[in-house]
Amino acid sequence: MKKAVITAVGHYVPDNIIPNSYFESRIETTDEWIRTRTGIQERRFAPDGMATSDMSVLAIEDCLKMRGLDKNEIDFIVVATVTPDHVFPATACLIQDKLGMKHPRIWGYDISAACSGFLFALETARRLVESGGSQKAIVVGADKMTAIVDPEDRATCIIFGDGAGAVLIEASDDDSVGIMDASLHVDGSGFQHLHMKAGGSAMPATHETVDKRLHYAYQEGQHVFKSAVKSMADATMDVMQRNNLTGSDVAWLVPHQANLRIIEATANRMELDKERVMINIQRYGNTTAGTIPICLSEWQKAGKIQYGDNMILAAFGGGFTYGSAYLKWGIK
Ligand code: UT7
Repeated sequence: MKKAVITAVGHYVPDNIIPNSYFESRIETTDEWIRTRTGIQERRFAPDGMATSDMSVLAIEDCLKMRGLDKNEIDFIVVATVTPDHVFPATACLIQDKLGMKHPRIWGYDISAACSGFLFALETARRLVESGGSQKAIVVGADKMTAIVDPEDRATCIIFGDGAGAVLIEASDDDSVGIMDASLHVDGSGFQHLHMKAGGSAMPATHETVDKRLHYAYQEGQHVFKSAVKSMADATMDVMQRNNLTGSDVAWLVPHQANLRIIEATANRMELDKERVMINIQRYGNTTAGTIPICLSEWQKAGKIQYGDNMILAAFGGGFTYGSAYLKWGIK
């Protein structure tokens, strides 16, 4: 069996920086409240007309540039997003067309697992690459959250931002690095606490659903917060125990960036110093499926990750979905 190795990373965040002060004149909030409750200082908003596929294309181009790889060598693309350009077709199709990828066997699709989407997509690509079904796969985590966040809901609009990250996964005969393990879960009983009420087959769009603001993300923050703290840490401990890892073996925790307090709770449970946790929530907020690959790309470019580093990726999101992955870094 082949090993699936991340061999390049890339990301894109929009230029438009939105500081916390932006919200102070629009809703009842303060910079101080947002910083202390979430750790966020600013986030990026994509311009009108820029869709999730457009951000993804830029992230993929950045990724392929790192590896010096021709786009036509990609044979599989999986996109994690809850903000697809359209209900159908899959954003993967639009990305393939916009990039002009012409591999004779390229195929792909979208995965809907909210903030855990990147981990779920990574695991899907890993299995495909390990089994020989793909030689070079692209995994994208991308969300234009401003498309689905209610600008009048002060508990959600201050958290989210827009952004995209991408990784290239290649098949390798060297099994000393690569994606080693994953522990992924769904718990649909959490649906009620984090979802979008209208726009799907359960409640198709009508004038009334629009008037009632039902096409925005609905979140019961406290409940989601408590579930995230427990589930992310549980999944992380699970994957560490299965692989006989302790905190001192882990070079980097790469957590989903939903709330600084959730990140700190996960790191504490792993007995990890903050210096070994990738944190950029202060600059980008929560970009949903984008958070983990954006971190990987930024830290790689900053030269902070060493070949062979043990890394634990962890996420929690709508569904509920949650999980953790263990990888040994394979970029020199
Ligand atoms: O990405 C994956 C899924 N999402 C998450 O993991 C997010 C998890 N949840 C959270 O991060 C936090 O729950 C929030 C940041 C959303 C909210 O923080 P909190 O500390 O849990 O606040 P809360 O919901 O318990 O609300 C406390 C108070 C309330 O006022 P009252 O009822 O006590 O008077 C809220 O109305 O804070 C109020 N509040 C705000 N005040 C100022 C809520 N949003 C704001 C705001 N500014 N933006």
